[in-house]
Amino acid sequence: MTFSIADAEQELQKRSATLNPRWYPRYHLAARAGWMNDPNGLVWFDGWYHAFYQHHPYSTQWGPMHWGHARSKDLVHWEHLPVALAPEGPEDKDGCFSGSAVVDGDTLALIYTGHKFHGDPGNDDNLYQVQCLATSRDGIHFERQGQIIDTPAGLHHFRDPKVWREGDTWYLIVGSRVGDTGQVRLYSSADLRQWQEEGILGEAQEGMGYMWECPDFFMLNGKRILMFSPQGLAAEGYRHRNLFQSGYMIGDWLPGQPFVAQSEFIELDHGHDFYAPQSFLTPDGRRIVIGWLDMWESPMPEQQDGWAGMLSLPREIRLGADNRLQMVPAEEVATLRGSYYPLLAQQLHNQRSHIVDEAEAIELELVWSMKNATAESYGLALGDGLRIAVDTQAQRLTLERRYPQFALEGTRSVALPAGDRLSLRIFIDRSSVEVFVNDGEACLSSRIYPLEGQRELTLFASNGRATLHSGGYWPLDK
Ligand code: FRU
Repeated sequence: MTFSIADAEQELQKRSATLNPRWYPRYHLAARAGWMNDPNGLVWFDGWYHAFYQHHPYSTQWGPMHWGHARSKDLVHWEHLPVALAPEGPEDKDGCFSGSAVVDGDTLALIYTGHKFHGDPGNDDNLYQVQCLATSRDGIHFERQGQIIDTPAGLHHFRDPKVWREGDTWYLIVGSRVGDTGQVRLYSSADLRQWQEEGILGEAQEGMGYMWECPDFFMLNGKRILMFSPQGLAAEGYRHRNLFQSGYMIGDWLPGQPFVAQSEFIELDHGHDFYAPQSFLTPDGRRIVIGWLDMWESPMPEQQDGWAGMLSLPREIRLGADNRLQMVPAEEVATLRGSYYPLLAQQLHNQRSHIVDEAEAIELELVWSMKNATAESYGLALGDGLRIAVDTQAQRLTLERRYPQFALEGTRSVALPAGDRLSLRIFIDRSSVEVFVNDGEACLSSRIYPLEGQRELTLFASNGRATLHSGGYWPLDK
């Protein structure tokens, strides 16, 4: 099969007309139809935020990757644009894989991985991944400039370039697999076309993964953050519970020297579904991260509905005094808020308290006072499928989803914050939930699949008392 942007557009028009919207996000970005995975090329260019993403327009399953494209003035109202890249060249004939975007003068440059097999595609020995460039003046139509970095000898998995500039020098990092060791390789360039090898920026120690996907590298408060998505980490207690992880290490780096990590690998989000995050800078200097709100090999019931995959809310990250990243919704997210409905401060004693019948797109703020709670479990429920609750015995905040008809059941959790107050900002969309704990201390994001009539929101306390100190909610809409 040969691919083109025109064919992809025709296919998407056809498919989007028959999409079942019951789980389609009201205020998150998802593909018009078909499959979506990683966010790519997040950038501010010529007055617009651009979000590209891994996209298969012809199916709700992953397949030959295209780059989908949308733009926004405010990071929350997105306008779909034509597919930006189709796998049409010899360098990317089996897929335009993940990558990034930079602004070079009046040009928007996409740097992405060309994925191709030389011979039988069933065999990784035939796999080659090369880095490619495409450029645009209008931010909508892209000219392919072809390959800029070939696969290093002996490697096969070599993908997901992230490019940034320091002074007059462009830097590029690529995730790679060397034997069973994940690596991040560094390159430099004066013109985005000719690249010099600069060695290995970071490498997995024992047990830290066989492949590091989607690396990103940036500064916050004078520290360097290496963010990446390692494959091959073993689960350990409450950590690394998803098939693949995404997280970061904090350290120092100067050009020409190796990155010196000063922290272990720390997961960025503790829910079931958050992967391949990418960061970018706003014109006013905030560092924003968007991730894919899904996990590889997890059931995606929306495939029955003609689409699959969505992106997370944009999140601002900051470096906390404890040298950990804090993540809060970008301030623009508040522009989605409709009227405010306060909740009364209340004591719950073995009871449920009704909030709304049908929560489809809503933000809640709940402040619990933990110190006098005797309930074994208390928190918020959405129908019978989702609970965001304090487990008093384990001293953890849990996100529990139960959709057995879709083979999605299980719990993720984080330790409760110190002190009395547990302050939660919870964002529910038609098939997602994102929980921000104590102004960015932790975050849990998961996909949810409530059926019709299963969207009643309630507060609850089981086997004892709990105290809601204050709270309220906003219906969200565009
Ligand atoms: C991460 C990833 C990337 C790759 C892309 C392919 O989710 O596997 O490493 O470029 O997805 O779609």
